[in-house]
Amino acid sequence: MTRILMVCLGNICRSPLAHGILQSKLSSDKFLVDSAGTGDYHIGNPPDARSITAARKKGIDISKQECRQFKVEDFEKFDIIYVMDQSNYSNVIQLARNEDERAKVKLLLEDYPNATTPEVPDPYWREAAEFDAVYEMLDEACTHISERLNN
Ligand code: 4NP
Repeated sequence: MTRILMVCLGNICRSPLAHGILQSKLSSDKFLVDSAGTGDYHIGNPPDARSITAARKKGIDISKQECRQFKVEDFEKFDIIYVMDQSNYSNVIQLARNEDERAKVKLLLEDYPNATTPEVPDPYWREAAEFDAVYEMLDEACTHISERLNN
């Protein structure tokens, strides 16, 4: 079993989408996908309604996900920890206790050679259309990552 954790700040906009999208592309027999936020603002909440809508338009249901905060034990539970931006990277890497844990943390778009930006932009303060753009970016990156993981 390969375990992959998607991490952003709030765990209500970007990482729930990345979680739902990557999960939809991988077999649940071989892969476990989860998500978490470095912040504690939305613990226990469902994803942002705009993320739920953007995913639903593509046939992916993320409405049952529940926001949780990243915790240090996640370094033991997961093999790959994908963060959305540099700020998430700093927040997660600060909690790592050794080189093994640090090596698990990667920018999601680092693993997608065709990415036009190094970071997944935070759509929280933007309009709903931004969520569709973030969805497309995540979908392309997750297609690439799932193909690599399956080979
Ligand atoms: P996310 O977006 O990190 O993609 O989930 C955010 C959601 C909420 C907040 C910030 C970013 N917030 O400040 O509440």
